[in-house]
Amino acid sequence: MQPSRILVGVSGGVAAFKACLLVRRLRRDGHEVRVILTRSAARFVGAPTFHALTSHRVYDDMWDPSAAEGGEPHVDLSAWADAAIVYPATADLVARVASGRSDDLLAATLLCLERPLVVCPAMHARMYRNFFFGEALKKLRLGGVTVLEAEVGELASGEVGEGRLPEPDAAVEALYTRMTAKDLGGLRILVTAGPTREHLDPVRFLSNPSTGKMGYAVARMALRRGARVSLVTGPTDLVPPRGAEVERVESAAQMAAAVHRAYEGCDAVVMCAAVADFAPAEVSPRKVHKTGGPVSVELRPTEDILRSLGERKGHRVLVGFAMETDDLEGSARRKRAAKNLDLVVGNDVTTQGAGFGTDTNVVILIGATGTIERLPRLPKEEVAHRILDRVAALAAERRS
Ligand code: C5P
Repeated sequence: MQPSRILVGVSGGVAAFKACLLVRRLRRDGHEVRVILTRSAARFVGAPTFHALTSHRVYDDMWDPSAAEGGEPHVDLSAWADAAIVYPATADLVARVASGRSDDLLAATLLCLERPLVVCPAMHARMYRNFFFGEALKKLRLGGVTVLEAEVGELASGEVGEGRLPEPDAAVEALYTRMTAKDLGGLRILVTAGPTREHLDPVRFLSNPSTGKMGYAVARMALRRGARVSLVTGPTDLVPPRGAEVERVESAAQMAAAVHRAYEGCDAVVMCAAVADFAPAEVSPRKVHKTGGPVSVELRPTEDILRSLGERKGHRVLVGFAMETDDLEGSARRKRAAKNLDLVVGNDVTTQGAGFGTDTNVVILIGATGTIERLPRLPKEEVAHRILDRVAALAAERRS
């Protein structure tokens, strides 16, 4: 995300404490942040906290002339912001925005705002289900506001139900999605991620250190850019992005089946998964006990999923990865040709800041004409964007 000016509105609910973490994440991502507190929000989290986190004064009073750099605080703040998020939004705040009220600084600023707005309601489940609240939320959507639905989970009362505020990362993702141009709109992209596990017996398997970070970044960025995303994922600790159709698999055979099912309806495939090349020929249904002697395991090759996809490619854009320890360029070129890929993303796992588990990657991109682009070390999200730029261009060529 480009560094932007983000306005954070905080209204008065128990979940207001999470706004501190939201502001911190936005600052870490390089944005300038200003906070407006409602009177009741200040009962839950004090202005000095947000002052410290934003390095700006906190806005909580419509009638404080020192809050206005130009004329009036609500006019100045709404003109300053590139985008705004209300986190958490109480039922009262939602009702006031939906009915065009301007009875405090936050409501007045939102009424004056002509930039993207994301509202994240949180409240007790009975309030969340209430008819009048539901109507107010509908009105917000009709008015072009992005509503991040509350989650089902533990509420302030200790009960479990709908109305829990999504975690800051989910709110930031909703905000960034709203702020991103939809150049992948109309495309369905199939992304695979993570490792596979090939069981020897119920308690042992062969696998690799893939964490899924690269594939999840591609899925998240594609969603931000407006694509419909099917994510086929091996076992990882990562939380799949909201909005993706997710299929969890374990073995290479399961991944192959899931990918083949999703292939028909998709326009592009980005195959990031570190699929096992070999699996035990026989899987013991019971734990294999040690005997003291050596054990040998016969391994058989798994299906090369990408190669099968390349054989019936049609109009689709196919992107594969080549993770190597030597002769990166040569191997990547050979894989591109052998699997009929439009783009191969090569990375040398021995390079610092590249490969398994890191937040960055150092890759080369080789296209069908043989051209090579060498990217510097970049966050995986940025690498994802560069891959998706190529996917967008190739898909546009195919359509025309
Ligand atoms: O041939 P190699 O395994 O290095 O190719 C890597 C690319 O092929 C990756 O995009 C990976 O997801 C894909 N692959 C596959 N099926 C396999 C092994 C790898 O689709 N069995």
